Amino acid sequence: MNSVKNIVKRMDNDELIRLARQLDVSLTERKVKRDLLVEIIQGELEEHYREGIPWKKTRLNDLAIQISGLTKKFGKTVAVRGLNLVVRPGQIVGLVGPNGAGKTTTLRILAGIIRPTEGSVQVNGFNMSVHPLKAKQRLGYIPERPTCYPNLKVREYLTFIAKIYRIPKIDATLRMKEYVDLFQLNGLLDAYIGTLSKGNLQRTLLVGIFVRPPPHILALDEPIYGLDPRGAWSLKVLLKKLRDEGSAILVSTHILEVAEGLCDRFVIMNEGDVVGRGTREELFVQTPNAHTIEEIFLELTGGIPEA
Ligand SMILES: Nc1ncnc2c1ncn2[C@@H]1O[C@H](COP(=O)(O)OP(=O)(O)OP(=O)(O)O)[C@@H](O)[C@H]1O
Ligand SMILES: [Mg+2]
Repeated sequence: MNSVKNIVKRMDNDELIRLARQLDVSLTERKVKRDLLVEIIQGELEEHYREGIPWKKTRLNDLAIQISGLTKKFGKTVAVRGLNLVVRPGQIVGLVGPNGAGKTTTLRILAGIIRPTEGSVQVNGFNMSVHPLKAKQRLGYIPERPTCYPNLKVREYLTFIAKIYRIPKIDATLRMKEYVDLFQLNGLLDAYIGTLSKGNLQRTLLVGIFVRPPPHILALDEPIYGLDPRGAWSLKVLLKKLRDEGSAILVSTHILEVAEGLCDRFVIMNEGDVVGRGTREELFVQTPNAHTIEEIFLELTGGIPEA
């Protein structure tokens, strides 16, 4: 609640008035003092939260992401071979591996974009091939190469997302404000998505996910790649906070520093196969000659190259 109150304090006057209207706060007096309006709105919001918002009751299935016996063939290429993977609420799992290992293929199947050759994926207990809408509704997916509606403005896109997920207007407004601030998109709200730089497009898609109510189930394909150091830092801090609050997060990356500082568990893939899995400590036990995560990675994915 305190973070919500702080967001209200940071809103500019137009935003405050918009929120006041949504909350049915009377603005009959011509000149309401800003401080007073902030106080009234904060009081209304407290009440609103006390009554309970539907998404507060949302709990995730203990198997938020479940990938079972997943195989994907493209012609003769076996991109993924018999992958089993689970992400539970409160975990960040790193899907790590060299180029061509099968990470993107796995996440695209998880997001329901392509179909598996064998095996299944479930999101919050819903099998993607049986209940695709229910499974997709719960998943926040960032593709490896972000694309989006080029003719929508950033603000329109975010409002649109809030509407299609039927997020209560007040919650959407507050979260939009919080994440637009965090990802420094304030100056770009009226820019067309088609004109955004790669990093800013990625930020916009991230805000689009976080406008939805937590806890989240996320599948992020190389989410840090393309962000500047400040953006990358903000995202890492945010993902850890969401994890601590019960979100389930699967992140693919081949940037080991990212994986090491972010993930609780790792699944290391190479040429479609899982070649190692576990926590950092468990991986060190599996590879006694390795001293760093980089050495574990190299050893498990073809050996440490000769100098
Ligand atoms: N649509 C496709 N048609 C044919 N082959 C494909 C297709 N998509 C992926 N592949 C092949 O599947 C294998 C795995 O590719 P994938 O993109 O999943 O790897 P990745 O682990 O994400 O690699 P990177 O780190 O380079 O992003 C590669 O050999 C790739 O060429
Ligand atoms: Mg990839």
